[in-house]
Amino acid sequence: MSTYTIDSSTSRANPQPTPGKRLTVPALRARKGGEPIVALTAYTMRTAQLLDPHCDLLLVGDSLGQVIYGLPSTVPVTLDMMCNHGAAVVRGSWHALVAVDMPFGSYEESPEQAFRNAARIMKETGAAAVKLEGGEAMAETVAFLSQRGIPVIGHVGLTPQAVNALGGYRARGRDDAEAAKILADSRAVADAGCFLLVLEGVMEEIAVEATKAVACPTIGIGASAQCDGQILVTEDMLGLFERTPRFVRKFGDLAGEISQAAEAYAAEVKARSFPGEGQIYRPK
Ligand code: KIV
Repeated sequence: MSTYTIDSSTSRANPQPTPGKRLTVPALRARKGGEPIVALTAYTMRTAQLLDPHCDLLLVGDSLGQVIYGLPSTVPVTLDMMCNHGAAVVRGSWHALVAVDMPFGSYEESPEQAFRNAARIMKETGAAAVKLEGGEAMAETVAFLSQRGIPVIGHVGLTPQAVNALGGYRARGRDDAEAAKILADSRAVADAGCFLLVLEGVMEEIAVEATKAVACPTIGIGASAQCDGQILVTEDMLGLFERTPRFVRKFGDLAGEISQAAEAYAAEVKARSFPGEGQIYRPK
């Protein structure tokens, strides 16, 4: 595993050992059935620096709409947002493959629209891949992009950009028809050429079946430990929010730590004990 030091004057990371190159699309595709793929979301340079040594894939998810911008869903997220955060995450990482979500409305109209916007994301961010939501309806677009040098991650099951059509964020695949549709969607985008497939919010057995049914690695979120890898929204697993979905395990308590630090800071400001000798300037 690589590690790094930070150049404190520029905040840039100096990875050691100096990495040859980032993980590539073929390297991740080859992980089918092998060592599980570790993926997390990242939206900022500093978070990327901290996550990168531990991750194979950093996803600049459109979940940044809710997590960073306080939006009610991912629907209002724009291409500008994705490009700005995508570029920051690429600058903060050196090991993981970085993929950027295509936001709602930037790819559904036609394969040509999808190509134009995916190319913009790749040019402006330096990311190696894009992710888009949808199954059978998006298969033609996945093939169009993949055949033209744009690696695509598929995303089926609970697809948050379709929240208005789905009527909420309920896990999918509870009845036979929904289960069959998720499997058909998985096969369609995998056969169309996606190199990874995110399975979100689906019944465990469907995730296992889909993982067996497709040639590319599956990345689960609210799916199954049998998927070829796992992803979570970083802020969820760090415990930044009190309320998280059932499928999240909290690996930290950032909300508690931030509240405690802010409380301690406020107390010291009010007591005039901050700044102290160590934080003020005096002529020599
Ligand atoms: O937007 C996002 O963060 C995602 C992942 C959680 C899969 O799509």
